[in-house]
Amino acid sequence: MTGSYRRVLLLAGYICIAIVTSAQVQKQQPISAGKKISADLFGLFFEDINYAADGGLYAELVQNRSFEYSPTDRREWNPFSYWEYITPGFSYGSVQVETTSPVHPNNPHYIVLNIEHAGDAGVGIRNPGFDGMVVKAGDVYTLSLFARSLTDIPVSLAVSLQTPKGKILAEQKFSTPSKEWKKYTASLVPSIYSDSASLVILATTKGKLAIDVVSLFPEKTFMNRQNGLRPDMAQALADMKPKFIRFPGGCLVHGDGLGNMYRWKNSIGPVEQRIEQKNIWGYHQTAGLGYFEYFQFCEDIGAKPLPVLPAAVSCQNSGGTWRIGGTGQKAIPMEEMSDYIQEVLDLIEWANGPVTSTWGAIRAAAGHPAPFNLEYIGIGNEDKITPEFEQRFKMIYDAVREKYPAVTVIGTVGPFPEGDDFSRGWVYARHLAVPVVDEHYYKNPEWFMSNLDRYDTYNRNQPQVYLGEYASWDNKLKNAIAEAAYMTSLERNGDVVRMASYAPLFAKKNHTQWKPDMIFFDNSTLYFTPNYYVQKMFSINQGNVYFDGVVSKNQNDTTLATSCVQDSKTGDVILKLVNTNRESKVMKISLANFKGISPTAGLTILSGDADAENSFEHPQNIVPVQTSIKVSRNFEHTAPPMSLSIIRIKTKR
Ligand code: AHR
Repeated sequence: MTGSYRRVLLLAGYICIAIVTSAQVQKQQPISAGKKISADLFGLFFEDINYAADGGLYAELVQNRSFEYSPTDRREWNPFSYWEYITPGFSYGSVQVETTSPVHPNNPHYIVLNIEHAGDAGVGIRNPGFDGMVVKAGDVYTLSLFARSLTDIPVSLAVSLQTPKGKILAEQKFSTPSKEWKKYTASLVPSIYSDSASLVILATTKGKLAIDVVSLFPEKTFMNRQNGLRPDMAQALADMKPKFIRFPGGCLVHGDGLGNMYRWKNSIGPVEQRIEQKNIWGYHQTAGLGYFEYFQFCEDIGAKPLPVLPAAVSCQNSGGTWRIGGTGQKAIPMEEMSDYIQEVLDLIEWANGPVTSTWGAIRAAAGHPAPFNLEYIGIGNEDKITPEFEQRFKMIYDAVREKYPAVTVIGTVGPFPEGDDFSRGWVYARHLAVPVVDEHYYKNPEWFMSNLDRYDTYNRNQPQVYLGEYASWDNKLKNAIAEAAYMTSLERNGDVVRMASYAPLFAKKNHTQWKPDMIFFDNSTLYFTPNYYVQKMFSINQGNVYFDGVVSKNQNDTTLATSCVQDSKTGDVILKLVNTNRESKVMKISLANFKGISPTAGLTILSGDADAENSFEHPQNIVPVQTSIKVSRNFEHTAPPMSLSIIRIKTKR
C-alpha cells in the first residue's frame, strides 16, 4: 500500500470529531474507521481448585466413591475416608479395604463387607457426601454400585437416603447374586428436602460382599447429561456466553511432580476405569469430570474448548507449594518424549478425527461421533522457562504444527507480568513464532489502573496474547471496576490480545484455598461476586470491530476508561464506560460513525460503594441494573461513582 493511498483511507476513516467530557481537560478525538478485533476475546478458565469439580460442578453426591482417597492426597486421609462403618440393630461383622481383585486395575481399592449377623437392620456403610448431601423432594437420584458376592449366598442390600437423625427419605432393596463384579442401580426419590442427607447401604443378610464405585447422581443435571454437571453452577457459566473455556488448569495441569501431571487419557472412558489422583490443591481428583465432559459442556454452551496439556515438565514448585517452592521442575525423560508427543497428538485426533480413526472411534464410542472441532490447544502452564522446558516445548509444538497446522498452539510465559520467565518465555515464543502465548497476573486494583496502556505498545507482528489468568486481589466492587477498566483496554487491543479469562472461577464455602474467585457456592446455592457481573457484562456484549474516539475523554485520565465495539453479526454498537471515581462523571458520546441508530438503547449499570461485596447472606448487594435510555448522534451519559455502564445500541442494516 502506498503512503498517499494509506493517508486517503485514514482520512476517510476519521469521520467525526467528538467533544470531550466536563471535569477534565478535554481533547478532541477522531473516531476511527474501526479495527477488527478478536472474535474470541472473553471466555472462561475452569480449574479444579477450591473444590470446583468434585464436590462442585461435577454433580456426583458421594465423596470418595471409589475408595481411592489416600494419605498422598492429604496426610489424614485413607481409602475409607468419608465412609462410616455402621452396625445398627444389634448386627455385627466387619469391613476392610482390599486390592486383590478390583473392578479395574486403574481403580485398585474396594471394600469387603463381612456380615456375620445382620441383626434387625443389617451391617453397612454411610457416606455424607461433601459436607452433607442436598436432596430435593420428588427428584430422582440414581444410586449405582459395583458389587461381587464372595460367598454362594446372594447378599440383600437396602440402600437409602437418611437425615442425620436416621429418618429415611427414600429406600430401595435389591440383592447382589453375581460372583463377578456387576453394576447394580436403583432410583431413590426423597419424600422431603434435606441439605444434610447421607447415603446408607446396609447388607441385611448374612454373607460377604465386595463393593466399589458407589455413586449417587441426580437425574437432573445440566442439559440432562449422564455423568453431568450441577445445573445451577453450569447455568451460571452458560449465561456468560463465553467464547471459550480453558481447562483443566492451571497448576493442576503440570502437577506436583511428573507422576501428578494431568494426563488426558486417564480422564476418559467409563468412570470406574479412570485414574484418580491427588489434586495439587490439597485434595483428590476423581476425574469424573474428565475430558469428555469438558468438551461436551463446551459444545453444550457454544464455547470453544481450550484444553491445556503439560509441556512435559512438572510444576517448578513440585514437592512444596506455590508459596514456599519445592523440589523444582522435573522433565519427562527424553526417551519417553515420543510417547508423550503421541499422547498430545492423540488428543487432537480424539477431538477432531473421523470415527474411522483410532481415537475418533473412542470418542464416538463414548457417545459423540461428530468431531468436537478443537481449534486451540495450550501447551504448558506458568512453567519455569528452563532449557529442559524449551527443548520439550519445541518438540511438542513442532509435532502439532506439522500434523495439525490448523490447530492454534498457545504457549506459556511464566506466572507474572514481567520478570525472568516472562522475558525468556517471550523471547522463545518469538523465536519459534508461537501464534499465541498465555500471560498471567494477579495484582491490586491500582496496578490494573496504571497498566491500562500495557498492550497499546505490543508489537502486532509477534505472537498474540491470551491473558489466561488475571484478577485484582479481592472481590469488592472496586476490584471488579478496576478489572472492567482493564477489560476496555483488552478490547482496544483486541487485535493483539486474542483471548482473556478471569481466574479462578469457583470457590466452595469452607473449602476455599484461593481468593479472589468469581463465584462462591455451597451445596445448595451460589452467589455472584461483582467480578462475575463485570465478566458477564463484557462477555455477553462482545464485538468484533473496535472504534476509537466514540466516547470523549482526556487521554491522560486513567480514572475513566471506555471502549466501543460493534458486533457485525447483529450490527449492535456497544459502549463500555467505566468510572473509578467516587463521584459521577459525564461522558460525551458521538455515534456519527454509525448509520441507522435506534433511538432507544439498553443500559446496564453495575455500581455502588467501592468496598461493597456480595456474600451468601447478601447475594444481591451489588447487582447490575438494566434499563433503557434514549440515544442520538451526540449524547451524554452520566457514569455513576465506581461504575461500569454498558450501552447497547441497535443499528438498522
Ligand atoms: O488460578 C489459580 C492458580 O494461579 C493457577 O492454577 C495457576 O496457573 C496460577 O498460579
